[in-house]
Amino acid sequence: MLRFLSVLVLSLCLPLLAQAQEAGAPPVDRTATGGAQTLEDILRRQEGIQVDDSFRSDLTGDPAAAAATTEQLGTRGGASDPDLWRGLRFDTADVTTQVRGPAAEVLIQDGGMSWLLFREGPLLTYGGALLGGMILLLAIFYLIRGRIRIDGEKTGKTILRFKSIERFGHWLLAGSFILLGITGLISLAGRKLLIPAFGHEAFATVAVASKWVHNNVSWAFMLALVLVFIFWVVHNLPDRTDINWILKGGGIFGGGHPPAKKFNAGQKLIFWSVIILGASISASGLSLLFPFELPMFAATFEKLNALGLPQLIGLGELNTALAPHEEMQLAQLWHAIVSFVLMAIIIAHIYIGSVGMEGAYAAMGDGEVELQWAREHHSIWAEEAEQEQTKAART
Ligand code: HEM
Repeated sequence: MLRFLSVLVLSLCLPLLAQAQEAGAPPVDRTATGGAQTLEDILRRQEGIQVDDSFRSDLTGDPAAAAATTEQLGTRGGASDPDLWRGLRFDTADVTTQVRGPAAEVLIQDGGMSWLLFREGPLLTYGGALLGGMILLLAIFYLIRGRIRIDGEKTGKTILRFKSIERFGHWLLAGSFILLGITGLISLAGRKLLIPAFGHEAFATVAVASKWVHNNVSWAFMLALVLVFIFWVVHNLPDRTDINWILKGGGIFGGGHPPAKKFNAGQKLIFWSVIILGASISASGLSLLFPFELPMFAATFEKLNALGLPQLIGLGELNTALAPHEEMQLAQLWHAIVSFVLMAIIIAHIYIGSVGMEGAYAAMGDGEVELQWAREHHSIWAEEAEQEQTKAART
């Protein structure tokens, strides 16, 4: 399931990332420079278009063609200064350094420009549109359907839905996620939107605070994710009632709410989205929190290539020779893309758990729900819970 979702999200995102391919662009004429780099090459790279660099990357000196030591340049082993610079540029030079760390020997890497452009461009635009679109959709839904009311007469009796430990887990998850969402968006939109609006000085203070909150609150989110998973996984395993619930559209547009156990199919979808996307955000977040220590993409791409999936959707083999910095760039993009998707889902969840449905909030408020609400939305669970309550009252 995890792999399927990763592939699904990847296949949705990679075409966006791959938009900066050279495809379609006419080949660069390098006769004027005798085959060396031209202004056109530089401009294309600055636009984020991937340039086929083999005319340079393959030209880093050939030891077999080395001049004899008695001749000029003999001691260089066939590599001229430009050869050496190209070797450094394409990470093929034999670099030794006393600096330790996974990225220390890479002096120049390639992915920066397309990452920067994607981060400030499509990521922010489409991500913002996704969140805005979801809010708009919910507003329209509210105007058409209004608040989902308790249809029958209220009993005046309540029934325990979530214990305090479960509510603690939920609010830890919710509180941390909201903080992470806000501070994450502040970091992402800083240079493009916030600095132009509020100036460097004001943004610097906000950025430092945001980063501190984001880095530290992440632990609370990961802990809450584990807690919520343990508390509710059993109730979220798919079963036959879900098929009926989905076929009837949850009764959202009338016809009564289909029978459901503790969680209905819609809630199960929310639960698994939170768990799977939350785990993926956590993994890529840890990779960002410990720079260069937890690279994940080359290994993932290798597995996807072996499965033949990127080839199937026309992306060809994914690049598995990633510089440590490129691993970080991909981790950042992945972290942000998956977070946008989960934020959009959670906006819908917050709507339905508060203004969207009468009687729902109480479940996470004081843990007690109106019996009639329980009978309408979770009839199978309500019956069991009522029986248990009567049994407990007798003993
Ligand atoms: C102010 C924000 C939020 C409100 C008002 C809210 C409200 C609720 C309510 C009322 C329920 C119980 C529904 C029931 O009785 O069946 C619930 C369940 C749940 N909440 Fe939230 N929630 C909020 C934020 C979040 C966030 C940020 C997350 C995760 C990142 C989250 C994850 C869940 C999950 C996984 C469940 C169980 C499955 C479900 O009912 O959909 N909630 N929430």
